[in-house]
Amino acid sequence: MLVVSTEYSQVLAGNIAGALGCPVGTVRFTRFPDGEHYLRLEEEDTEMVVVGSVPDADALVELLLLVDACEERDVTLVVPYLGYARQDRKFHEGEPLSARAVCRALSGSARQVFTVNVHDPAVLTHFRVGARDISLAGEIGRYLSAQSLENPLILAPDDGAAAFARSVAATGGWESDHLEKTRISGEEVRIEHQDLDVSGRDVVIVDDIIATGGTLVTAARMLRMQGARMVSSACVHGVLAEGAYSRLLSGGISEVACSDTLERACSRYSAGQAIADRVRRCS
Ligand code: R5P
Repeated sequence: MLVVSTEYSQVLAGNIAGALGCPVGTVRFTRFPDGEHYLRLEEEDTEMVVVGSVPDADALVELLLLVDACEERDVTLVVPYLGYARQDRKFHEGEPLSARAVCRALSGSARQVFTVNVHDPAVLTHFRVGARDISLAGEIGRYLSAQSLENPLILAPDDGAAAFARSVAATGGWESDHLEKTRISGEEVRIEHQDLDVSGRDVVIVDDIIATGGTLVTAARMLRMQGARMVSSACVHGVLAEGAYSRLLSGGISEVACSDTLERACSRYSAGQAIADRVRRCS
């Protein structure tokens, strides 16, 4: 077995290979003069784990090319961050189901697919092969266990993340709760005032994605007003769009931690072991 990756998931691919006890394969990447992507897989193994997050269109093209280069092999496709997964509904006539388009295109000749904390697991049915999601709640819980948290509350910013917050909290035997969020625009959200027991406590807001950071900043403002001692955040996918990291720090979030599904300077925990465990079980 060999692990190969796009340029977007090199560190995570190394972590997966380390946990599986197998090598990382070589792929050469370059571009044609007109900007089109070119890659060449320099390996002949028949069993491949292909890893590539999809934070943008270039990443999507690289992953499509890599999956195609692995045609006629036994491919396990790992898409740690599945971009476009939030576009899973049509609001107006003529719109695409973007999540479906991406899943179908990526399926290629893969035998199976894994994602990590995909926004809504329902989109996995759009892959043409069996697809399963892996949760990093345990990794985040273990990371938080090593921090010196004062009577922590693990808080989800909305109902959709409540189960995730409960799983993170279960790792350390902490309390969890969730807020009620309404999205107003791409960057703005409204969070209904809720009286939470946060006075003098450390609150960790956990979520699948930090995109613009609007959700977290709005929540942090309310929690500070209610007397929280410290508000920090731990998410799976640090998309960190539009200067989100600075926005969070200046908005009163004392720490921003994310996983390596998107390789960031604030990647504090790895999805490598969880992915390797699942790949090994399904080989
Ligand atoms: C949406 O429901 C997701 O779970 C996240 O809460 C959302 O993507 C965060 O976006 P932002 O950081 O832009 O508020």
